[in-house]
Amino acid sequence: MELKTENFYRIVAPRPTVLISTTDGVNSNAAPFSFVMPVSVKPALIAFSCGHGKDTLANIRKTKEFVVNVPSSEILDAVWVCSKKFPNDVNEIIKSGLTERKSKKIKPPSIDECIAWFECKLEFEKDMGDHVLIVGEVLNVEVIDEISKDEGFDVLERVLMHLTGRDFTVSGKILNPKIE
Ligand SMILES: Cc1cc2nc3c(=O)[nH]c(=O)nc-3n(C[C@H](O)[C@H](O)[C@H](O)COP(=O)(O)O)c2cc1C
Repeated sequence: MELKTENFYRIVAPRPTVLISTTDGVNSNAAPFSFVMPVSVKPALIAFSCGHGKDTLANIRKTKEFVVNVPSSEILDAVWVCSKKFPNDVNEIIKSGLTERKSKKIKPPSIDECIAWFECKLEFEKDMGDHVLIVGEVLNVEVIDEISKDEGFDVLERVLMHLTGRDFTVSGKILNPKIE
């Protein structure tokens, strides 16, 4: 069956969902984003796609900084509140019942209840169709201690992923290829 091309992204799902926190210098802002991908390991670069007219975009253009906060499924309701359109002087972190905490290397605050935090400085932005591609260099990375597991990270059932609309999921199953 053929789909409208504009629906392709709904098949590339579920997608990890992050909360991006920014500041305009006075007010803090946070919103969920799922068009997110790592683009380089060294230097550490991360990209996300932001629709035009969003406070997140305006703040990043102003300060050149943002935090990628990784929420767990436990704060899904707060993530949902942050996705709503508020006037730009409304602090979604407080509005959603979450807590701001000082970031280590940049001015925008981090969100305390998340499980990982990537402090980023804007590398570049580029208009891409109906979105703007934002690439940031990750200057500082922190995770909650509970995530460390042997040599790896225990992210199963923690990282919140978006399917579509109000539907979210978490991954619960590890699959391995049967061949070497
Ligand atoms: C799970 C989820 C994922 C989202 N992903 C994106 C995204 O990748 N890009 C985008 O522009 N908007 C995305 N949105 C919509 C923004 O979160 C929403 O427009 C928000 O109000 C923007 O806030 P701001 O104006 O404070 O930046 C997403 C919403 C939800 C609920």
